[in-house]
Amino acid sequence: MYKKVDLYYEPIEEPNKLMAPIKKGMPLGEMSKNELAFICGLLKESRPKKLLEIGVAAGGTTAVIVNCLSMINCHSEVFSVDIAEQYYRYPEARTGYLFDQIRSYYKDSGVYQELILGKSIPYCIEKIGGEIDFLIIDTMHVLPGEVLDFLCVLPFLSETAVVVVHDVSYNLLSWSLKGKPAYATRVLLSTVKAGEKYFNFDDVHLSIGGFKKDQTTWDGIEDVFSALSITWSYMPLLDDLKGYLEIFVKYYNNKQVIDWLKTVCYLQEKKIGGWNSVQEELDYVLQTLAGYDVYIYGTGLKGRKIEKLLSKANIKGHCISRDYLLDEWDIKDGVVCVDDIQNENTIIVLAADSPECYWHIIENGLEHIVISDEVWKAYSCI
Ligand SMILES: C[S@@+](CC[C@H](N)C(=O)[O-])C[C@H]1O[C@@H](n2cnc3c(N)ncnc32)[C@H](O)[C@@H]1O
Repeated sequence: MYKKVDLYYEPIEEPNKLMAPIKKGMPLGEMSKNELAFICGLLKESRPKKLLEIGVAAGGTTAVIVNCLSMINCHSEVFSVDIAEQYYRYPEARTGYLFDQIRSYYKDSGVYQELILGKSIPYCIEKIGGEIDFLIIDTMHVLPGEVLDFLCVLPFLSETAVVVVHDVSYNLLSWSLKGKPAYATRVLLSTVKAGEKYFNFDDVHLSIGGFKKDQTTWDGIEDVFSALSITWSYMPLLDDLKGYLEIFVKYYNNKQVIDWLKTVCYLQEKKIGGWNSVQEELDYVLQTLAGYDVYIYGTGLKGRKIEKLLSKANIKGHCISRDYLLDEWDIKDGVVCVDDIQNENTIIVLAADSPECYWHIIENGLEHIVISDEVWKAYSCI
């Protein structure tokens, strides 16, 4: 069974006292004292030199981390990354504002702290660099969320890095994310291989856990990738998806996994709408296309069918892949190569059941819509 961690409460009180007058009625942080004591216990035991925190919110947890490292006299670097520049519960304040306002208090502590806002992990991990020996992930809670981020950071972790994942039983709580399956960190903790895993058995919500990376983590990493085929609750932004893939291609020498993941992303996007009917989906598609120049990717039966179905949209023509274009047998007026499309004010409707075509769209950074199988079935295209 998972190992129990010695809880270390002492570092929590001081930053909480300092932040209390400036918190503007908002929570200090999103971790309970118990959970913070779990993190501090692991910090005390492992004494990290380089810590990465993904998911900062107000910055209350950041403050406790910095205070803890200062109390145990550990002169570490702390990088705190959040995709949002403004605090999501109180957008008048910057993300991390609580720690920012008390940071001067820790200026002589020997702990270096840097807040990186408005960027997802693939766009800052190379700059943060390797030998990260402590990682805390607390972001979306729904898939692909923390699983993608962990895979992105793994090549930058030290050999025995400690990884903490928050809200590992969030899906069991009555207030969990509006019925969405909030189990991304649980999926990560349960699929990752590690000789040592940790759990906070003292917490009534069983909500925080972790593990220590070792060689088995690398050996078994395909199980974590394979967990990405569990249904996703959202699609990462276009640039982020591209960014994750670029990191995976560069740091995992595994073409089979990358090709498989590309297909999974395509299948997830095809399914993500969760429409109640074909008409609801088509209405949404038409609304989304309004104001855009539309190209339909594909010139076959599906391409022609979708052109008719979406005839109210501003359809400029069809597009196809460059290798297909070379065949020349199907080229008509209004057919262009997808690589030649300028992305300003243009949107692509994918009418070819092909992960390869999907990735041509992503790699060209083009806005797009992927039509679900239900529409094709309804119009007898499959
Ligand atoms: C639950 S809050 C974090 C709470 C914080 N760890 C604490 O203990 O106070 C989640 C945060 O993750 C951020 N976030 C969501 N997706 C992200 C991503 N892909 N990368 C970085 N931050 C992300 C959100 O903007 C939000 O501030």
